Amino acid sequence: MQIQVLQKDELSTLKELISGYTGFTFTASREHTLVQALSAFSKVHNCTSLLQFEHMLRTSDALMKKFTESLLIHETYFFREKDSLAQLISLLEKKNDGNNTGASVARIWSAGCSTGEEPYSLALLLLESAFKANFRIVGTDISQQAINHAGNAHYSEWSLRSLNSAQREKYFERGLKTYRLKDETAKQRVTFVKANLTEENQLSREWSNLDAIICRNVLIYFEQQAISKIAKIFFHQLKPGGILLTGASDPPLIGCADFEVEYTATGIVYRKPELQIYKAARRSQAATPMKSRKSINKPVVVTLNSTAQANAASAGHAKTTFEKAMQLYRTGQWQDVVKLLAPQPSISRSLLIRSLLNLGRTEEATILAEAACQNEPLDATNHLLLALVMMSEQRQRDAAAIIKKALFLDRNYIVAHFLLGISCFCTGDRNQALKSMKNAQNLLNALPAGAAIPLAEEESREQFQANVQRYLTII
Ligand SMILES: C[S@@+](CC[C@H](N)C(=O)[O-])C[C@H]1O[C@@H](n2cnc3c(N)ncnc32)[C@H](O)[C@@H]1O
Repeated sequence: MQIQVLQKDELSTLKELISGYTGFTFTASREHTLVQALSAFSKVHNCTSLLQFEHMLRTSDALMKKFTESLLIHETYFFREKDSLAQLISLLEKKNDGNNTGASVARIWSAGCSTGEEPYSLALLLLESAFKANFRIVGTDISQQAINHAGNAHYSEWSLRSLNSAQREKYFERGLKTYRLKDETAKQRVTFVKANLTEENQLSREWSNLDAIICRNVLIYFEQQAISKIAKIFFHQLKPGGILLTGASDPPLIGCADFEVEYTATGIVYRKPELQIYKAARRSQAATPMKSRKSINKPVVVTLNSTAQANAASAGHAKTTFEKAMQLYRTGQWQDVVKLLAPQPSISRSLLIRSLLNLGRTEEATILAEAACQNEPLDATNHLLLALVMMSEQRQRDAAAIIKKALFLDRNYIVAHFLLGISCFCTGDRNQALKSMKNAQNLLNALPAGAAIPLAEEESREQFQANVQRYLTII
């Protein structure tokens, strides 16, 4: 027996079910694929009514996976839309001043990578760029079959259709029926993970704070709600200044997240705005002759917390608002943090001021930070917030004086030592910069492995240590 669909609207519940799971939208041609898959599956599973089949899908994750797998389109090939791959590499090189010294590793996510042709193409091109082998790529796809195929790195003639014979020779070894990707470095640099883009972010922490994301010819199949959700996940996963490229036929993501948008001949470039503090650090850097300027371009995400904030958060309503604001801040929705906290700044002055700074609203941030210092002069975090405002205005000397006040109140404030190091570095006081970074390093070393840094929210001891180390190398 198999289910016969007589009316299109009979399918609406099934479509909703599949959309909820995969984010797919069903155009007329996709509807046809759905009907075909439904007929085939109902026959195999001996299912006679649509209601029964929907119930089976709801109750069996395995069946849902298998059914959605049959609806996927894995069409891809090596060096597809090669201009956009080249553009990505050139943008990353520019970010690194066009000269990758090996000190930094570009980390890239190929989302909806199908059978791996896209991330491997990118890897092969990166190996021939200034990055050489200094990159890592994670390729994700909802399909386990596609991920397994990608891991094997054996391809048919069809996948190589845009390559000339010299390129085939260069990158592949011909077998009986397939071509094997023979560049071992390219293979080592790419990791494959099965992940559904419409579920909460499934990438591990290792793959956060990325330099770039490439998601081409995937969003074209998705409905608007899913597209907005995925855009926000991408925004969250990028580091400030990080880049997102989509495909030429993908829907635009304008308004879906707080990306800066640039229209180029090759396509739209979405960029996560840089944090104000790093823009400021870079501007000061440009005016200050230093041993090496390049590395300061790599932003270090500094996030502060405060005891006052934690206390405020302990009350019921304040706690919920604080958590909401924190969630918005983490996903880069600073506009919304300001909207939420401006009427009740005491819930988290830190989040409010940092959001204003990230939005470039320095004047308001100054007023708030100064008021906080006046009202609670013994809270070290308030002084640090004021120092952050000054750093964003390139007033590095004033910032250093204020950070010293914060350290007078709390000698073990790791983030304060770190910021003092940066501001002294920017004013050319190399000795003090070195001393402060070393203080931060010693305090970090005294923490147990994996510990969260006191008064810093997001970064683990190891991540923060890496940031401190990076500055120690360039000072
Ligand atoms: C047409 S291929 C694009 C491959 C490659 N990005 C390219 O441009 O050549 C689309 C891929 O997106 C994957 N995909 C579809 N829905 C997905 C989802 N919800 N999460 C992750 N991947 C998904 C499909 O399995 C398929 O392999």
